[in-house]
Amino acid sequence: MAAISPSTTVRVPGSFSVTPAQVPCTLVILGGAGDLSHKKLLPALYNLSLDGVLGPKFAILGFSLETLDDEKYRQFARSGIETFSRRGLTEAGWNKFAPLLHFVSGSFTVAADYQKLKQRLAEIDSQFGTESNHVFYFAIPPEFIERCSAGLMQAGLIQTADGGHGFTRVVIEKPIGHDLASATEINDQLAKYFSENQIFRIDHYLGKETVENLMVLRFANSIFEPIWTSRFIDHVQISVAEQEGVGTRAAYYDKAGALRDMVQSHILQVLCMTAMEAPRSTQPDAVRDAKLDVLLSLRPFEPADVERAVVRGQYEQGLVNGEKVPAYRAEEHIPPDSNTETFVALKCFIENWRWAGVPFYLRTGKRMTRRASEIAIQFKRVPRILYNSRPAPPLPANVLSIRIQPDEGLSLNIVGKQPGSPLRLGPVKVDFHSATTSPEAYETLLRDILAGDQTLFMRRDTVEAAWRFIQNILDYWSVAGGEPFFYPAGSSGPTEAAVMIARDGRTWRNL
Ligand code: BG6
Repeated sequence: MAAISPSTTVRVPGSFSVTPAQVPCTLVILGGAGDLSHKKLLPALYNLSLDGVLGPKFAILGFSLETLDDEKYRQFARSGIETFSRRGLTEAGWNKFAPLLHFVSGSFTVAADYQKLKQRLAEIDSQFGTESNHVFYFAIPPEFIERCSAGLMQAGLIQTADGGHGFTRVVIEKPIGHDLASATEINDQLAKYFSENQIFRIDHYLGKETVENLMVLRFANSIFEPIWTSRFIDHVQISVAEQEGVGTRAAYYDKAGALRDMVQSHILQVLCMTAMEAPRSTQPDAVRDAKLDVLLSLRPFEPADVERAVVRGQYEQGLVNGEKVPAYRAEEHIPPDSNTETFVALKCFIENWRWAGVPFYLRTGKRMTRRASEIAIQFKRVPRILYNSRPAPPLPANVLSIRIQPDEGLSLNIVGKQPGSPLRLGPVKVDFHSATTSPEAYETLLRDILAGDQTLFMRRDTVEAAWRFIQNILDYWSVAGGEPFFYPAGSSGPTEAAVMIARDGRTWRNL
């Protein structure tokens, strides 16, 4: 259990939820009038306000180039909440939330504008009694990280961790670099201004209810852990399928691709939560050490492994939900000869005692049949005797499927007797659906930032270890890349991905 100080809260035993902290604080959003704020941050904050997490000593200050005043910023927030909030906007909810919102217009590159920010912040601090606690949320492109950190520092807005004048925390969004070298550079820049315990690197998958619940499932129940090993598990599949295409993010995505965008971050984090050893405690660093061990135990890819065990694909035109959608290369602002992958499937191994010899198959893609993300633990089959004897086809293996989205929950596929005689066996599915009202990832993560709980945030070494693993694949592709395999939009990816897993005598799960 984490040490308890006024700015930390207690994870409630048995529920893994955090008691509302009502921490005094001003949350400054750099890039406050951007897309992330509109779609995610402001709606999440509205929901936290509804839940009573924000308290009377809490305020929000947007900072960016747009010429808005408080009133216009409130309109901007309101439209974001109306469109994207998990719970609808009510007048009572809005009247409570709106007064928290403020805006100061300024450029990230102009020193005088940080002085303006400082002055406004001081006014808000004294009006709300925030005890000079500040969270700076960098909802900005990564190339501004250094500039904004320096601007805040020069304006005297960064307190050292033990400064005694309130806390300073900084929140960093992905992408943290585009390869190992650039990620290290960003982390070096951050380290010049902030200590590691002030830095909250977001991976929003870690805020998803089912992902957070994985640790509870594994370590608060006695039935799973004894069989969570290579002795009983045949293989694991982690899939994140999206229906959406590249959307309006062509400029970023075409340089990133699915490996950087999804595997380096979200999928490897989910892999860590699935495969890690029991941490020595629920302290943030104990959990993060256990996750790091997984990344450090991944077998590095040799060029021949990339050739054999990594498949990159790109969507062509096709039908999604009965509607015709264009090929990736025909999307707006995507070069017509782009080789960027919108799909990737790979097989990797964790070389430790628990997982020796167990393949982990990871796959993600845009424009796939449906939106569905799951972790599937496939157990070994029963021996070919008794009910499973030849010549009948083998009985299906037991699969524990942990669904991340869209319908959170878990199911266990077992074999049972079909009613009637003669004796016939068939699959039985034990299904559990979580409540549909669970908080959005950003609500969970913002709540934890205010509480000062770093458990669900990525430590520097974890980010770099994930890049180090991915880097071998990137290096190989940069030399031997060529065209990806194509798949029609609305399908389950290129056939080569099916061939890759079929070589091992296995198949991808239908999502
Ligand atoms: C983001 C990626 O981090 O995650 C996007 O940049 C992707 O490309 C998104 O669409 C998926 O998140 P979610 O929560 O919708 O599964």
